[in-house]
Amino acid sequence: MVKDWSPDSWRDRPIKQQPAWPDLADLDRALKQISAYPPLVFAGEARSLQTSLAKVAAGNAFLLQAGDCAESFEDFSADNIREKLRVILQMAIVLTYSMGVPVVKVGRMAGQFAKPRSADYERIGDDDIPSFRGHIVNAQGPTAAARVPTPERLVQAYHQSASTLNLVRAFTKGGFAALDRVHAWNQEFVASSPAGQRYEQLAREIDRALRFMRATGMDTESNASLREVDVYTSHEALLLSYEEALTRRDSTTGTWYDCSAHMVWVGERTRELDGAHVEFLRGVGNPIGCKVGPTMSGEDVIQICELLNPARIPGRLTLITRMGADHIESGLRPLLSAVKDSGHPVVWACDPMHGNTYTSVHGHKTRDLESIIGEIEGFVRAHRAEGTWPGGIHVELTGEDVTECIGGADKLIDSDLAARYETVCDPRLNGRQSLELAFRTAELIRSGDQAG
Ligand code: PEP
Ligand code: CO
Repeated sequence: MVKDWSPDSWRDRPIKQQPAWPDLADLDRALKQISAYPPLVFAGEARSLQTSLAKVAAGNAFLLQAGDCAESFEDFSADNIREKLRVILQMAIVLTYSMGVPVVKVGRMAGQFAKPRSADYERIGDDDIPSFRGHIVNAQGPTAAARVPTPERLVQAYHQSASTLNLVRAFTKGGFAALDRVHAWNQEFVASSPAGQRYEQLAREIDRALRFMRATGMDTESNASLREVDVYTSHEALLLSYEEALTRRDSTTGTWYDCSAHMVWVGERTRELDGAHVEFLRGVGNPIGCKVGPTMSGEDVIQICELLNPARIPGRLTLITRMGADHIESGLRPLLSAVKDSGHPVVWACDPMHGNTYTSVHGHKTRDLESIIGEIEGFVRAHRAEGTWPGGIHVELTGEDVTECIGGADKLIDSDLAARYETVCDPRLNGRQSLELAFRTAELIRSGDQAG
């Protein structure tokens, strides 16, 4: 049991990035309702994820964490969930096949709603209106009325998470993810790209291998590891009152788990050592993450490790670096060596998205696929130099044919962005760009292997 911790001990700490709820009695009612609802995930599942992440920490597996920047209440459909899953499965196949290690799949899905903002207010015309904080808090429209935080949205987010998770479980356990359907994951929009063609080739090789296995007498139809996959859920634990309402004591171990997702992380803007978010995360039994930005020192990282994983449990803590393509290599190396010297077992994952965002000349928030891959390249180089394992990537993507990030084989440029710019928050890679990223990531890690 974690010392001096309870699901509400965060309430005594300074807290950032919370909405100014206009009616606290209303908020209280919504939270009480959620506290009475069933957990979304079980403690045993969170422990399985932690066991898989321990393999990543030891350098024997790779983490693929991917999904929306912010899930949307409006853009919520079976198609949307299926397309996202499809591209995640494709990426995982590419990584597994090229790198020869298991890929641990974690979606930014089924609960990734709340967003931290750099400013509390946004200037619209002559007025300052509250910032949009994700559909779990307020609506996106550019009016003061739309931006009023509404507790009923917490309840809606719970229900949307439950149905998303239900569909994810159905797809991953019900045949959709079976390895003999590897061709079917290549949807038309992706299949017609150079990465899609390359994927087809790889899928043919997998087919041949499956035929070979069947020919030798192996029953590929009933082998669960060929028919089912585990896709876990994760999100930033930002709205602590919502997370607290879903924090339950596991009856078998007596440990508290945040049952809103398998894994939860603390963001770059809320990771103060004495702050509420770190306090909350240190007490839950889930595997947890912490974003690591360019201002972090070796000492800061060690303090985070000591606070969030004092028992040094492998797989418990994932450090998600996001420094920008130009800073990652020099910024990361001292952190890798400090953590290695301390003996803390961590998963190092690269978020190549959040340090490479800029506003295009036409006014869209965007990212260039080349900078995104550039950050992964620097991340891999830093790990090679320090003798540590580049354990995974953390990316914002969608399976859909959107135009939010520039670059890639289609050579999207600034003026293309308006065509299908649909994200409710940060720009995501589209299906083609995501698959291209998977191939190039696998190559970077493999070439490092040969060099090292
Ligand atoms: C995010 O992951 O969407 C995010 C806000 O990241 P960060 O905390 O690293 O800025
Ligand atoms: Co984001």
